[in-house]
Amino acid sequence: MNYPPSKLPQVGTTIFTRMSQLAAEQGAINLSQGFPDFDGPALLKERVCHYLLNGHNQYAPMTGVPALRQAIASKIKSLYGYSANADSEITVTSGATEAIFAAIAALVGPGDEVIVFDPAYDCYEPAISLNGGITHHLPLLPPHFGIDWDRLKDALHSKTRMVIVNNPHNPTGAVFSRADLDTLAELLRGSDTLMLGDEVYEHIVFDGQPHLSLLCHPELAQRSVVVSSFGKTYHTTGWKVGYVVAPALLSAEVRKVHQYLTFSTSTPFQLGLADFLEAEPDHYLQLPSFYQAKRDEFCQLLAGSRFRLTPTRGTYFQLLDYSAISDRNDVEMAEWLTREVGVAAIPISVFYSQPPADLRWLRFCFAKGSETLQKAAERLCKI
Ligand SMILES: Cc1ncc(COP(=O)(O)O)c(C=O)c1O
Repeated sequence: MNYPPSKLPQVGTTIFTRMSQLAAEQGAINLSQGFPDFDGPALLKERVCHYLLNGHNQYAPMTGVPALRQAIASKIKSLYGYSANADSEITVTSGATEAIFAAIAALVGPGDEVIVFDPAYDCYEPAISLNGGITHHLPLLPPHFGIDWDRLKDALHSKTRMVIVNNPHNPTGAVFSRADLDTLAELLRGSDTLMLGDEVYEHIVFDGQPHLSLLCHPELAQRSVVVSSFGKTYHTTGWKVGYVVAPALLSAEVRKVHQYLTFSTSTPFQLGLADFLEAEPDHYLQLPSFYQAKRDEFCQLLAGSRFRLTPTRGTYFQLLDYSAISDRNDVEMAEWLTREVGVAAIPISVFYSQPPADLRWLRFCFAKGSETLQKAAERLCKI
């Protein structure tokens, strides 16, 4: 028999899996994949165990447990001034990845165009393609990786169903300013184009900047689906609990997909998260200073190296420019670094549909304990 042709012929194993595998084979320090090497808060784990051990192990409501949706509503009201109806505008999902897929599947149809900004996180385009959409890639402009507003203006037209933004931005650490939100609103005014805001690093912004969610801007909020992830916020990426905030009519459509994709998200984790959000709001409020200390430590440790860097403004990723060290392309450089130096990183060309030829940056994850960062930096300083 003939098997059907692949619906995603371009897709192979992701670079994150490949680099983590190579790091394990080589015994290298793994600063490639984006996860912490430390655990989540003790009280949060205790609350999850409590529910798990006390009979809360059956299906959660499809939209999420009410206490968690309520806790999310309170958080976004106090941080972004956005009043979401917890019953009709907030949906708990199995990680941000599911939320993004559900949002795209619900809202993008055959022939619809979706604008993404390269370097772009890898889960957007496969979801767009599987749903018959057409991905339109626009470049972010180095060195600050801002949006090229003229190109965006030229790219927007009546078939543009959605613009996807990732703020704070993986892998560059760029964060939106108030002027960015205003310009986006101005460019979309009068159109039916939706925004998908991937804000999984919402609590990891540095140097006293606020995170400016799409929800902070009333005009944008009414056309936006905003996604976040507790995995990033609470050092629990393996739990895969995220959520979507969107106006009721958009939420209703996203829920139709979520209902048949996963139906609902793990009950004891949701209940534990609800308790923790209420008990310790300070945890996410302190996340910027927690990660800023790690960023500063990593950057200081590399001060004597031949890598060049601008301290990242958000996320737990730091780009290092290796152009003074080698003219290898970044995939070769990442492999060489893992095999020969014993430190694994991610080449950022994989986040582009057409990477610029002279890309000489690697992405390093600094969500690691001091000892790991010191060991890695020691090796990187020897090059
Ligand atoms: C930009 C971005 N969006 C989405 C995700 C996925 O989040 P989750 O693990 O909650 O599915 C990640 C994870 O690395 C990410 O970096």
